[in-house]
Amino acid sequence: MTGAAVESVRPAGGEEPAGTGPASAEPVLPELRAMWWETGVRARAEAGLFAVFAELPRLVAEAVRVSWRTDRFRTSVVAVTTVGAGVMSAFGLLATQRVLVELFAGGPTGDKVMAALPALVALAVVTAIRAGMGIASGYAQNGLTPRVGRAVERRLFEVTTAVRLDAFDADAFADEMERASRGDEAVVSLVQASMNLLAGLAGLLAVGVAVVVIHPLLLLALLVATLPKAWATLRAGHLRYQTYIAGSVRRRRQWLLRRLMAERDSAPELRSYGLRRFLLDQYDRVMGVETDIQLALARRVTTTTSLGAVIGGLATGAVYVLLGLLLVDGRIPLAAAATCVVAVQAAQRSLDALTFQIDRVYTEGQHVGDYTGFLARATAYLPAEGGSGEAPPPLQEIAVRGLSLRYPDRDTPAVDDVTLTIRAGQTVAFVGENGSGKTTLAAMIALLRTPSAGVVEWNGRPLAEWDVGQLRARIAVVTQEYHKWPFTAATNIAIGDVDSEARQDRIEAAAARAVADDMIRELPYGYETLLDRTFAQGQDLSGGQWQRITAARGFLRDAELLIMDEPSSALDPRAEDALFQAIRDRQGRVTTILITHRLANVRHADRIFVLHHGVLVEAGSHAELMAAGGRYAELFALQAAGYDDTVDRHLPGQRRPTTS
Ligand SMILES: Nc1ncnc2c1ncn2[C@@H]1O[C@H](COP(=O)(O)OP(=O)(O)OP(=O)(O)O)[C@@H](O)[C@H]1O
Ligand SMILES: [Mg+2]
Repeated sequence: MTGAAVESVRPAGGEEPAGTGPASAEPVLPELRAMWWETGVRARAEAGLFAVFAELPRLVAEAVRVSWRTDRFRTSVVAVTTVGAGVMSAFGLLATQRVLVELFAGGPTGDKVMAALPALVALAVVTAIRAGMGIASGYAQNGLTPRVGRAVERRLFEVTTAVRLDAFDADAFADEMERASRGDEAVVSLVQASMNLLAGLAGLLAVGVAVVVIHPLLLLALLVATLPKAWATLRAGHLRYQTYIAGSVRRRRQWLLRRLMAERDSAPELRSYGLRRFLLDQYDRVMGVETDIQLALARRVTTTTSLGAVIGGLATGAVYVLLGLLLVDGRIPLAAAATCVVAVQAAQRSLDALTFQIDRVYTEGQHVGDYTGFLARATAYLPAEGGSGEAPPPLQEIAVRGLSLRYPDRDTPAVDDVTLTIRAGQTVAFVGENGSGKTTLAAMIALLRTPSAGVVEWNGRPLAEWDVGQLRARIAVVTQEYHKWPFTAATNIAIGDVDSEARQDRIEAAAARAVADDMIRELPYGYETLLDRTFAQGQDLSGGQWQRITAARGFLRDAELLIMDEPSSALDPRAEDALFQAIRDRQGRVTTILITHRLANVRHADRIFVLHHGVLVEAGSHAELMAAGGRYAELFALQAAGYDDTVDRHLPGQRRPTTS
């Protein structure tokens, strides 16, 4: 379902704006085309105007429900005052009509004014009440908006933090999330627009009654005068939404480019590779297409609304002619004709306002639909809730049986039918070349990824049958691609065990095991140093220093099972030695899975599992595997030889590569 360009928003397609540099040689980037990642989205965007309207009541109800749940009092106030104000403006119109009738009646002016006085007083009262309700509504809405916005956005984050990791591998998920992120504004706007719509309807009803009282034919004339414009407005809204919905990938790409060009993380490589020109070209390409699409949209919208305005104008003219004829014919008195002019104008204003609100309800409704649709579809990515919920007993054995994982869109499995056993207290190592499946296998053991086939057992029972939350609490993972959390050094370690109290002595002990303690103390504010340079007093660390912090995070809770994926890739020899000493201290007491390419460090492991293209090809202790002379022995010899050569060739007068 990818890659179909759609007629309404057809971008430059093949005839790209010519770029310069490497970008110009590329074929059309996928993000430059209108994309439909998902059948539902396409169906909705291609649906006619009226098909989409059928969905609106449900979405309005949903928005009102969210608002009601968040703040009942303010939602009620907004509802009552908005609709009340609409009703009051209708009464106002009726009072105006009474005033006019009295003023246009025959007789001395003084008497006419006196006769009109009650209606004038009523008009004043109604206007005052309406203004008061407007103020009350404004207050309530101002209080409601941030609260509803927060509730809606929080719900989104509740889902995005709960879904399985594979959700983030899916492009459709990212696109939908991009659109869903408008949900917070959209829900508030939809609630407001729905109320205003009700108010408008109340007002319109009153105007309708007033007009019918004067002459039934006028009602028909009014509709004729207003409908073309209303249709044009709604059609324009539909066009805008169609374009919007097709542009998710492009917007994400724009956002990415903006970040790449303006953020700290990418700034060094941008400069070292001289990527400025290249990125600006990419930006021009994406924005060139975006601008074309927006201009094409603007053309279509302007044509539609102009057409509506012309037809509407002609029809309004016809209404006034009709009114004139009725007046000349003597079918209606002058007072009624004057009221009628006021009524026609009021009716057109109400209808315009109403159309505007319908358009808003429609557009915001679509955004709310994106939001609720995302939440609904994201449930498919929620992890299955943990089996019997029984607390897992102390670890005796982890058994991996026939475990496989194939990433979507990949031909070969990343882990292919792996079977192995790890006993409590053992330190085991996963080794193998890049891409051999070590991280993937560890992720399944750590409950981070769901296997495509096979099972991981904790004391003989599948992981899913234990209480998953408690199981996770027993497993600590130091991931290969660790994240630099923008918190203080202490917090960066403390998040390794958020369920326990962040005691300073525990944090320092963990840091000491990961050789991070001294280094942290040397920071300007010690453990309280903020590790994000983009904030005041924030600091950054070197690559190896960051890795020490991550290792400390893994050591913080003395987890029954600790998985360390490449924990020493950036460490200096002394730090590396100390780290592996700390890992060896666990041996015989608690279990450790170690993934590393520095094979000297796995010599002490109880068992070494060698993976190749996802398959477990060798298993045994260092001595056994060396004796077997297989893949492990080959890799080990290769690395050892490298060290010998270095010693022989480079030690005297060794030259390091220059960095500047
Ligand atoms: N999220 C993903 N989506 C698709 N394919 C993936 C994903 N993550 C990893 N792969 C692929 O799965 C295979 C195994 O990857 P994995 O990260 O498990 O290797 P590894 O043994 O840890 O490698 P390294 O030594 O480089 O860390 C690789 O071919 C990789 O390209
Ligand atoms: Mg890996």
